[in-house]
Amino acid sequence: MSATTREWHLAAQPHGEPTPADFRLVEVPVPEPAEGQVVVRNVVMSVDPYMRGRMRSGPSYAPPWKVGEVMRGGAVGRVVASRAPGLPEGSLVLTDAAWRETAVLDAAQATRLPAATDVPPSWFLGVLGMPGLTAYAGLFRVGAFREGDDVFVSGAAGAVGSLVGQFARLRGAGSVVGSAGSPEKVAWLRELGSTAAFSYRDGITRGLAEAAPDGIDLFFDNVGGEHLEAAIGALRVHGRAALCGSISGYNAVEPPPGPRNMSLMVGKRLTLRGFLVSDHADLRPEFTGTVTGWLRSGDLVVRETVREGIEQAVPAFLDLLRGGNVGKMVVRLAPDPD
Ligand SMILES: NC(=O)c1ccc[n+]([C@@H]2O[C@H](COP(=O)([O-])OP(=O)(O)OC[C@H]3O[C@@H](n4cnc5c(N)ncnc54)[C@H](OP(=O)(O)O)[C@@H]3O)[C@@H](O)[C@H]2O)c1
Repeated sequence: MSATTREWHLAAQPHGEPTPADFRLVEVPVPEPAEGQVVVRNVVMSVDPYMRGRMRSGPSYAPPWKVGEVMRGGAVGRVVASRAPGLPEGSLVLTDAAWRETAVLDAAQATRLPAATDVPPSWFLGVLGMPGLTAYAGLFRVGAFREGDDVFVSGAAGAVGSLVGQFARLRGAGSVVGSAGSPEKVAWLRELGSTAAFSYRDGITRGLAEAAPDGIDLFFDNVGGEHLEAAIGALRVHGRAALCGSISGYNAVEPPPGPRNMSLMVGKRLTLRGFLVSDHADLRPEFTGTVTGWLRSGDLVVRETVREGIEQAVPAFLDLLRGGNVGKMVVRLAPDPD
């Protein structure tokens, strides 16, 4: 074990789009673990859009990062030293101690992951982790998906979106339409079996009208803004929307304008429902069983964008916010354990 670790601190709260100057990579000593603690060497960490909300002190659903302190987030690591009997050296663990190479944690802050599976550790940050459960809960519970539904997913080539489209197809959607920000992503969505896909950069309302000329039953929204307005226009009577995120407005310095067509909600009797994955933890066993089955049968395609090394963590995060990922964006900090 090295005596020091590198970790990212928040240096400033950004106004608008964050820049590298808002972060600082520092080297700090690794403290000796106390009784009941473990030393965790991180293998892979997550960067996620919700972290943009943690950079501001205003209301957000995750606690804000503090200026001058190490940032937090999902990571998978290996216990390299243990003073906690229930968590021996060699255990693979899921923690909230991302943004650093090594962390000293109370055993209660680490969730032990199954040993010796054929699942890459990074999947516990993606398809089998928070984004996977978000897709599952949002589509099946919040969106009340029904077989035969015509579904539209925004942010469709990202971590959550790429799973939503596939889950809907696997459960018998009538059609699945996805929007994304580049021709490459659109081509990948077609490969994944989407009925239609379009780049929102060519126009959202027109793209959706061409992809789903007869309308949609269910909208899974990762993007908000113009996407939500276009979807309200396309939803059929009794249509539903699961509001998962609104990334198009995360860097806005003024509140973005709302959809201009909200009055359609009355005549069409629409249901728009926001949700947080943390409210749906009870679905985890069902989710894990179902998704593991799809992974084993080869029905579900998993894609990741992997950046290498702690120095790349902030560039990866900034790139994620600009669409530099396909599938789940993760940062590898050490090789996978054997
Ligand atoms: N409610 C919850 O509990 C919960 C949990 C997890 C995630 N979320 C939300 O779900 C959404 C997706 O998260 P994720 O982890 O799967 O991230 P992701 O989709 O893998 O990555 C973010 C993507 O957002 C897209 N994007 C960025 N700016 C955009 C803009 N102005 N307009 C349209 N698209 C834009 C980019 O793709 P393009 O190249 O296509 O632009 C980028 O790749 C986010 O809104 C996130 O906050 C919510």
